[in-house]
Amino acid sequence: MSKSNVMNTYGRFDITFEKGIGSKVYDTNGKEYIDFVSGVAVNSLGHSHEAIINALKEQSLKLIHVSNLYWNIPQINLAKKLVAYSHHDQVFFCNSGTEAVETGLKLARKYGKLKSNTKNKIIYMKNSFHGRTLGALAVTGQEKYQKDFMPLMEGVKAVAFNDIKDLEENMNEDICAVIIEPIQGEGGVLKAQKDFLQKARELCDEFDALLIFDEVQCGIGRTGKLFAYQSFGTVPDVICMAKGLGGGFPIGATLANKRAASAFSPGDHGCTFGGNPLACKVALSVLEELVDKGIVDQVSEKSGYFVDRLKNLKSKYPIIEEIQGMGLMLGIKVNIEPKAIVNKCFEKGLLLVGAGKDVVRMLPPLNVKNEDMEKALEILEDVLACL
Ligand SMILES: Cc1ncc(COP(=O)(O)O)c(C=O)c1O
Repeated sequence: MSKSNVMNTYGRFDITFEKGIGSKVYDTNGKEYIDFVSGVAVNSLGHSHEAIINALKEQSLKLIHVSNLYWNIPQINLAKKLVAYSHHDQVFFCNSGTEAVETGLKLARKYGKLKSNTKNKIIYMKNSFHGRTLGALAVTGQEKYQKDFMPLMEGVKAVAFNDIKDLEENMNEDICAVIIEPIQGEGGVLKAQKDFLQKARELCDEFDALLIFDEVQCGIGRTGKLFAYQSFGTVPDVICMAKGLGGGFPIGATLANKRAASAFSPGDHGCTFGGNPLACKVALSVLEELVDKGIVDQVSEKSGYFVDRLKNLKSKYPIIEEIQGMGLMLGIKVNIEPKAIVNKCFEKGLLLVGAGKDVVRMLPPLNVKNEDMEKALEILEDVLACL
């Protein structure tokens, strides 16, 4: 099978997957893997979930796409559901995390513009990750992602994550937004401190700026609440989401309160595929499973069980320094190259992914079964014991 026709942008394992069910995926030779990457926090219901399959079948027989020149029913219903579950009022739909972030950034610029011609500066966090488009990249606080793509968007300023003083010193009337991941995912599964988020809220109120939470990775149930902000107790003005919302089908969304959302008028922003009925119907089915059928409510319990077992491994294997994260967005901080663990686990049939420079990330489906957690822990222990 020639793979040379695909652009060389990913450091991939030399493996091709063919099918999946629940927490398991199978390669073209039929080998089984426990998938604790979940498409990097995408397969919130695992692989081939019946609710998603049924939504795809049902909606594709009715209407797959219609322009945003017109309304469609799943889009209206999904917006209503997201608003009902949050403190927010209006949604913009797109297809990916980076687009959801771009929407947040553009909304902030427009919000600022309506106040003054100089209110266009955006504060972001060092060590953050917000996506690969040039706007999202400009607020991604990691040199390795930015360095070959200069010049990036102007008017942005990085402050240290969880550093209240640095944030305070950089806030002023020209700031239109502060963007934060409540848990830095790519940066190493690092939680924001509650008082930092609260201070960011207060400063945004004081200087009339929008507080944007990028929940693309940590949202949609990962922390044990539908939205990550609900686990941290600070309500942002804008939430960017994607990944888990479609459970594997591409969809992104930017949810905002009325104060922020009302800055946009027709023509300010758009997205051809955004809010298409098929994607929205799938997202509705995902939310129904996650929220209405109680899967999100079980995340903390599953997490507690899993973290206890990981802490047990920590006490046995000094390679492990810390168990980080929250809910089912977990990181094992190690004092060796995390790739060594990821690669060995891969060989033994467990998919994991690195984060930052010293973390092995675990992102099981939110409905992961205990027996799959057990199997994953067994493989992980086998690997740790041989290192
Ligand atoms: C926090 C965060 N924001 C944005 C993105 C970009 O999402 P996408 O790859 O869907 O564009 C990611 C992807 O990993 C992410 O983790």
